[in-house]
Amino acid sequence: MRLDRLIGKWASWGKRQVREQFEAGEVSVNGERVTEAARLVGKFDRIEVSGKVVQAETRRVIILNKPLGVVSATKDPEHPTVIDLIERPWASGLHLAGRLDRYTSGLMILTNDGEFSKSLTEPAKKVGKRYLVEVDGVIEQAVVEVFEEGMWFAKEEITTAPAKVELIEDSRCRLIIYEGKHHQVKRMFARFDLKVIALHREAIGGIELPDDLPMGAWRELA
Ligand code: URA
Repeated sequence: MRLDRLIGKWASWGKRQVREQFEAGEVSVNGERVTEAARLVGKFDRIEVSGKVVQAETRRVIILNKPLGVVSATKDPEHPTVIDLIERPWASGLHLAGRLDRYTSGLMILTNDGEFSKSLTEPAKKVGKRYLVEVDGVIEQAVVEVFEEGMWFAKEEITTAPAKVELIEDSRCRLIIYEGKHHQVKRMFARFDLKVIALHREAIGGIELPDDLPMGAWRELA
């Protein structure tokens, strides 16, 4: 957004009054005096006029290791949510960059940066989500082949992007999918009458769940 518009809106000033603030050297962005009224600023730039704070919001990106039973929502009337796990006054300003089912564990990303979360969740970005999966039967080669080809999801009217499958044991694999459809992994295996009995997300794009982050714990990404 343009700096002069932001200030005008904040103070309910007209164009002339805003211009005077710039001319008087009263406007600063991230601690530096700014005279260019048309400068573009973002949500996380600290803006002051005559020492008064117009906006000052810290950008936050949180990685969290979601335990089973916790809901990936910002509010829930019955169950604890991932936001409850953060226990900081700013936690309520976060939103979720993708969700997990209540009985799925692993990596969740929470942020107050809408552009960043979009870069992870917009289908066109094709960001891979890697899961460790255990099912109640044998993962045959035919399953792997179909997953790697892509599957038609009638409800959403999409063919999934070719997934990547690494078999670990007969009934366990690592799976990378490039969409985030509701219950996607469970629905993919259900086509082959396989029930997912354990599901854990290890990575989203280049962001890995750190080995030393215990279940229920979180940390800020630098
Ligand atoms: N697929 C699922 O079925 N559940 C999840 O929580 C994530 C992906």
